[in-house]
Amino acid sequence: MKITVIGTGHVGLVVGLCFAEIGHEVVCVDNDPHKIKTLEDGQLPFYEPELETLLSRATDSGRIRFVTDLAAGVEHSELIFFCLGTPPLPGGEADLSSVERVARQIARLSDSYKLVVEKSTVPVLTGERIRKTMQIYSREKGDVEFDVASNPEFLAEGSAVVDFLYPDRIVIGVENGRAEALLREAYAPIVDQTFEWRLEHPVPADRGKSVMLVTNRNSAELIKHASNSFLAMKISYINAISNLCDAVGADVRRVAEGMGYDHRIGPEFLKAGIGFGGFCFPKDLEAFIHIAEKNGQDFGLLREVERVNTNQIDKFIEKVRHEVWVLKGKTIAVWGLAFKPNTDDLRFSPSLITIERLLAEGAAVRAYDPQAMPEARQTHEQVTYAESALDAAAGADALLLLTGWSEFRDVDLAELHARMVRPLILDGRNHLDPEAVRAAGFEYVGMGLPQNGEAKPPAAVPRG
Ligand SMILES: NC(=O)c1ccc[n+]([C@@H]2O[C@H](COP(=O)([O-])OP(=O)(O)OC[C@H]3O[C@@H](n4cnc5c(N)ncnc54)[C@H](O)[C@@H]3O)[C@@H](O)[C@H]2O)c1
Repeated sequence: MKITVIGTGHVGLVVGLCFAEIGHEVVCVDNDPHKIKTLEDGQLPFYEPELETLLSRATDSGRIRFVTDLAAGVEHSELIFFCLGTPPLPGGEADLSSVERVARQIARLSDSYKLVVEKSTVPVLTGERIRKTMQIYSREKGDVEFDVASNPEFLAEGSAVVDFLYPDRIVIGVENGRAEALLREAYAPIVDQTFEWRLEHPVPADRGKSVMLVTNRNSAELIKHASNSFLAMKISYINAISNLCDAVGADVRRVAEGMGYDHRIGPEFLKAGIGFGGFCFPKDLEAFIHIAEKNGQDFGLLREVERVNTNQIDKFIEKVRHEVWVLKGKTIAVWGLAFKPNTDDLRFSPSLITIERLLAEGAAVRAYDPQAMPEARQTHEQVTYAESALDAAAGADALLLLTGWSEFRDVDLAELHARMVRPLILDGRNHLDPEAVRAAGFEYVGMGLPQNGEAKPPAAVPRG
């Protein structure tokens, strides 16, 4: 099939390369000429596991083209995926200006039927807006037909390729059979698993067959916002529990484990820490609250999810102050800058927010991240960037672990101990093994974990 993907960012590039991998002929359009040039030169504009292999294979097979010219994309295919950014406006509403502009342009450029597919995360009823916009701006063309479908993307950065090729579900929101048939054809190799997995890492054992859910457009749009908000709620829930654990000397990891065995709850997204970030959860939560309120629904529940999330950084900074006392003039090592491991994405990263707080209090920050430092250097010049995790800790009064990269678990603890002025670790992701770290002579503070491994008695024993 011929497929056009507009927007070649974290989603669009994965979508384009994966569609090429499973046999389609893809044109990727982006209005950033630098990004397109980078891709044409066989380089990736950001880090994502497996993407390099996919890029070289798609380029070698001639199944992908990268262009800045939207007209070329429109001409290539009747199936056009929107993977444009939908960043938050100052009030929290999603900025749909790119989506609107590209819809207008496509309407004017099209000479034949087009199915525009929203893959960007958009508020419910956006598809209807796109349809109307295209109707208006295609007037001069006369009888060109359009459909607009919703096909939200659930991939997570860091595992995006596996997520796209082995999704839990593919959601399709369509208004007629023609649109449904096109999307079913595009996804058939994934649903039927007829493609060959030829990537470096094996497919995780928990990936089974993908379900395709076909519904109307409004429902599909809602599924994405409702899913992300629910996951964000799970994280804030366990973070609220972790604060209680801190107060009573309980262990949030065991509490989460005990909850997670219940199949109605499940173990995922129950990791306490300094909270969620990235380009999806914070903005999708805001946009969902906004669209709900616009439609007369008070979503106080989700406001609380946001409040807990913001508070986690305050709580963590309090812990740092409690341990380090005065931050001014101290050297603080930071492990991890990206908003989560296996990506170099710094958008809305809790680590960066924490670092800004440390700098504002006069601390000197020495940071290390396996992938995100080139990008961070552009925006956070006050930070000293180290060549390795051990280097970052050299001469530090405390080490803060803020992104759970697996390599941080492999650092030689004796060497780390020797390099630090004070062997103190504050683990904002509960990533290290407290027992092992303490046994190596460190002071260790996690999130919702008993201090020094011993359970404290409850602050107040209930009477009655
Ligand atoms: N990042 C994720 O993990 C993820 C997961 C699922 C869904 N989403 C959603 O997918 C959408 C895209 O997210 P992303 O992370 O890929 O964003 P991104 O910022 O990485 O990519 C957007 C791309 O669109 C391009 N673009 C902007 N305006 C354009 C125009 N007029 N013409 C052509 N290209 C244009 C930009 O140059 C950029 O490359 C968002 O709505 C996001 O919420 C993101």
